[in-house]
Order: sequence, then structure tokens, then C-alpha cells
Amino acid sequence: MSPVLAAPPSVPVGTGMSIFDPMFVGMDEYGHPVYLPMIYRNILIGGEPGAGKSSFLNTVIGTASLCLDVSLCLLDGKQVELGLWENCADVFVGPDLDLAILTLQRLQTVMDNRYAFLKSVRRQKMVPGDVFGAILIAIDEIAFYSATAGDKKTQEQFSSLLRDLVARGRAVGIIVAAATQRPSSDIIPTSLRDLFAWRFAGRCTTNVSSDIVLGHGWAARGYSSNTVDPTNQGCGYLIAEGGNPVLIKAAYMSNDDIIRVADYAAWTRRTTTTTASAELHAAA
Ligand SMILES: Nc1ncnc2c1ncn2[C@@H]1O[C@H](COP(=O)(O)OP(=O)(O)OP(=O)(O)O)[C@@H](O)[C@H]1O
Ligand SMILES: [Mg+2]
Repeated sequence: MSPVLAAPPSVPVGTGMSIFDPMFVGMDEYGHPVYLPMIYRNILIGGEPGAGKSSFLNTVIGTASLCLDVSLCLLDGKQVELGLWENCADVFVGPDLDLAILTLQRLQTVMDNRYAFLKSVRRQKMVPGDVFGAILIAIDEIAFYSATAGDKKTQEQFSSLLRDLVARGRAVGIIVAAATQRPSSDIIPTSLRDLFAWRFAGRCTTNVSSDIVLGHGWAARGYSSNTVDPTNQGCGYLIAEGGNPVLIKAAYMSNDDIIRVADYAAWTRRTTTTTASAELHAAA
């Protein structure tokens, strides 16, 4: 009847980017670009209010949104920090601890199933072009779910699920990127912090807070994000496991940049099913 219905589904033109490629996150103090390999790794982002944590997280999500081999799972107690990416995400959790726990439980099941699959094909980790893609779990303000909302029991449930995903998810492509305003040891126990391969400390109010993010003893050796100028948002120390902290200025996406990239990413991520149903609606 309608020629539109007979047409093959269109194929959105993607970027060809992959989560297996290192991700641009900013510039170091010598003006060199800083790229982070994110696959098989997790990142913790800490700092005082206004330090640039959500902006850093938005850059990570923005780059991942353009990689079609990673799904996005976003948790944001404030809703507006990561909300602009909702149409690119498979799951978006707002200020709802029960939904956050349910989502992490689902991810835990996915993780276990993936390991069972890898074992069945006698492999130890996922590889580029694998039968399943990576999953980025981005959490803005861990403390909302681990210390503010709900009661002690549910908060602990959330924390232990998160710890499990951070600890075991790497080989099956589960990447956790989490931000926290209060990098105190009750929010980020040392045992959890040390599981994050990458850690970024934006300006912190004290040397102790900076050490909680970077690792004990770095302030004494002259690496403290307390020395970052409060007006220099997005500047902080980045450390990789086994390395020394490096001072960087994080890349920044304005609200308009995010909207533009998110709209494009959502378009490249639409499935054939939604394309077909949109065409059916257009043809009706
Ligand atoms: N890399 C950057 N370059 C330039 N400006 C930045 C950068 N990162 C953040 N800013 C500026 O700092 C402001 C605060 O940043 P952001 O919202 O990311 O802070 P935050 O650490 O998430 O704060 P909060 O803890 O209150 O959520 C931004 O609105 C932006 O104007
Ligand atoms: Mg924020």
C-alpha cells in the first residue's frame, strides 16, 4: 500500500568509535591530551561540590554514547546531572533506591550469565566484536544511594551489589564510573576504593579527602587536590593503579554540547524495531 512500509529499514550512520579505544578525558599540565582505556576498568570521581565531577562523568558518558558496543545504565539521584542522556540509556534510575537495587541485581545476573557463557566457550574475558557488548554503569553521587535514601539495610544492599559489580564486572565488560561529593571512608570504604583502576580527585576541601580518593599517603608526597584553585573547576589529580597522580584539566561539555551529542547518539542507537514502528506511525 504505502511505499514507506516496503522500504528496508534505514541504517543510522554511526561514528565507528569503540569502547575498546582509549577515551579522551582532558589535557595534562604540559598540554598533552590524556586518554583513558576504560574497558576492563572502573573509575571513581571525587571532589567537593562544584569541583567538576558531574561534568567529568558527562564526558565519559558522552564518549561512550557514541560507541555502539557499550550500553548505558545511568543512576542519578539528582536526575538532571545525567538526565540529558536518558534517551541513549537502556536504564535510567532517578532518586529511587529500590529501582537502583533492582537494576544492580539485574546487572549482577547479566554478569553471572556472561561468566557462565565465557566458561562454556573456554575464554577468560570478552573481546572486541564479542557476542555481547560492554555496559557502562554511571552513578552520580554514590552517597545518595549508599547513605542518604532508604534505610541502613537497603543502603548496605546497594553498596554490596555495587562492590560486587566493581570487583567482578571487568572481564565481562561491565564498567563502573561513579562520582561522590563526600569522599569520606563511610561512603567509599578503602576496600571499595582500591577496586577502581582509575581515580580522579577534583578539588577536595582537605588533604585527607584527597587521599581517600587517590590513596593513602599521596598528599604527604605532594599530590593533593586540596591545592587546586577553587575557581579551576574540572582540574584535579588522576591516578591509575600502580601509577603516580597526574594533574589534568578535564574536558568539558556544555549543556548545549550534551544535548547535541545525546540527540545524535540516541539516533544512532535506535533499533530497527523502533525505526520500523516509527515508519509505521508515519505511514498511518
Ligand atoms: N572541565 C571543566 N572545564 C570548565 N568548567 C568546568 C569543568 N568542569 C566543571 N566546570 C564548571 O563547574 C561547574 C560545576 O561543575 P559540576 O556540576 O560538574 O560539579 P560537581 O562536582 O558535579 O558539583 P556537585 O557536587 O554540586 O554536583 C559547571 O557547571 C561548569 O561551569
Ligand atoms: Mg554534580
